[in-house]
Amino acid sequence: MNSMQGELIPATQANTNLGDYETARQSFQWDEVEQQFSWHRTGFINLAYEAIDRHVEEGRGDKTALIYSDAEREESYTFAELQSWSARFANVLRKHGITKGDRVFVFMPRSPELYISILGAIKAGAVVGPLFEAFMETAVKDRLEDSGASVLVTTPALLKRVKREELPELRAIFVVGATPEQAEAEGAGIYPFEQEVVSVSADNAIEWVELEDGLILHYTSGSTGKPKGVYHVHNAMIQHYFTGKMVLDLKEDDIYWCTADPGWVTGTSYGIFAPWLNGVCNLVLGGRFDPGAWYSAIEKYKVTVWYSAPTAFRMLMGAGEEAAGKYDLSSLRHVLSVGEPLNPEVVRWGLAVYKRRIHDTWWMTETGGQLICNYPSMAIKPGSMGKPLPGIEAAILDDQGNVLPPNRMGNLAIRTPWPSMMRTIWNNESKYAEYFRIPGWYVSGDSAYQDEDGYFWFQGRIDDVINSSGERIGPFEVESKLVEHPAVAEAGVIGKPDAVRGEIIKAFVALRDGYEPTEELKAEIARFVKEGLSAHAAPREIEFKDKLPKTRSGKIMRRVLKAWELHLPAGDLSTIED
Ligand code: WT7
Repeated sequence: MNSMQGELIPATQANTNLGDYETARQSFQWDEVEQQFSWHRTGFINLAYEAIDRHVEEGRGDKTALIYSDAEREESYTFAELQSWSARFANVLRKHGITKGDRVFVFMPRSPELYISILGAIKAGAVVGPLFEAFMETAVKDRLEDSGASVLVTTPALLKRVKREELPELRAIFVVGATPEQAEAEGAGIYPFEQEVVSVSADNAIEWVELEDGLILHYTSGSTGKPKGVYHVHNAMIQHYFTGKMVLDLKEDDIYWCTADPGWVTGTSYGIFAPWLNGVCNLVLGGRFDPGAWYSAIEKYKVTVWYSAPTAFRMLMGAGEEAAGKYDLSSLRHVLSVGEPLNPEVVRWGLAVYKRRIHDTWWMTETGGQLICNYPSMAIKPGSMGKPLPGIEAAILDDQGNVLPPNRMGNLAIRTPWPSMMRTIWNNESKYAEYFRIPGWYVSGDSAYQDEDGYFWFQGRIDDVINSSGERIGPFEVESKLVEHPAVAEAGVIGKPDAVRGEIIKAFVALRDGYEPTEELKAEIARFVKEGLSAHAAPREIEFKDKLPKTRSGKIMRRVLKAWELHLPAGDLSTIED
């Protein structure tokens, strides 16, 4: 077992929202959390109302809700301003015939308009589909097609990646930053975003929904098949609100910064919903990762609560103590991490350099919200994901569904249900059912163990899903793209351990006859994936092989590729082709 198990970093903040963990667990009731929402009294439900309008109605309209900053723009919006802009966009959608349950996608870099679009779509009762700006043509088309999206909000530059002629269900595209003339020139169904939002009223914008009505569709990768649309409903707000308070420890005067893009679930659940449901000021920093820009944002905006990811912390560590020392980071009260295993040395470094504990949190796109966490009031064991949220039961199960005793590795599973649990996989009930193959449990696909003190320790993925810089990549999607390249006969893709990114994508490729295995060809193949899918799906390493290991049924054996890479025994080869 882990040699670090004994190390304990005690809590330093006595006064937190959660208080003593064990006491909170024992007295916990989800019903009591629900009482915090206005729909509990009025019966009128909509997450965007609770996140924005409610604060205005309760007298907090002048409070800053959003600070947006990048190299070109620096803007702030009060709750009242966000209320009005998002209402306007909701009315634009209405005008274009959008009704409850329609899918409205957003495909653009972070900007105030992105946040306004997401809130507006939710107000209109639509299901929002956020797409990461780095997605290329195929990735965009697959997601719009699978979801049957009828509206897209994008930018002039990204519009080029939308294959409109192949998406008959896509009725309207709103282009942020396009003049009416530019939009007109793009053809029918293309509208200038800014002009549209100023031409409608901000009144009567909210579509009241049911708790089980659709909220958001996040596409994520599995080990086989195309990305799956993880479908969440408004009821998830109960968990977003509660974890915002208990795990992020949000308080009225906090300046909160989540570094994730809304293209990923962290950027919505914790980059939009949790902070605003708690009425907290939310900082959004556009642009790419840059240690100086990041530290300077903490100093300038006096960030108090900071939620980021292990790869970012490792890169900051790489930038050194001097880089951190140039800035005043003393505003930071609470620092958290998610997405991949948080190395104990990173926790120790955070303690030495930021003088703060980095609190690891575990959850998934499918879980919609945090489930296993290190709470501010809890002693941290560096390398452990922490303990389950009050109201959540987590366990380690064997493949038959028996609960394993402490220190035994097995399937990390969560007792069903919880408020933010996904409600289906879009168009794919059978994929959904696979997560619940053990009655009464959600099986995460992660392996872990629990120690005697109740702390959970991540061990790995059970399938072949790759986690590179906290981004989940399905090997199948990359392999499918690779074999579209004229030189590639066969391809197998694995995650190769990497000190900074956790894992990098490595592709093993067998070439078609007549192609020379050159370095130029490697670069050209990597570029092909990057331009077809996205930068983060492109292999950082390619190795040519004469032949790839396959089962007799023709399936590439990634397990054998991984063993080659790590110089490990390949295990059971009884199903290999020859
Ligand atoms: C997978 C989910 C939900 C936020 C971002 C990732 C891995 C997530 C941790 C952690 C070790 C972690 C798991 C999980 N993961 N958090 N604290 N320690 N691994 O969401 O893209 O749905 O990926 O990320 O393998 O299954 P995601």
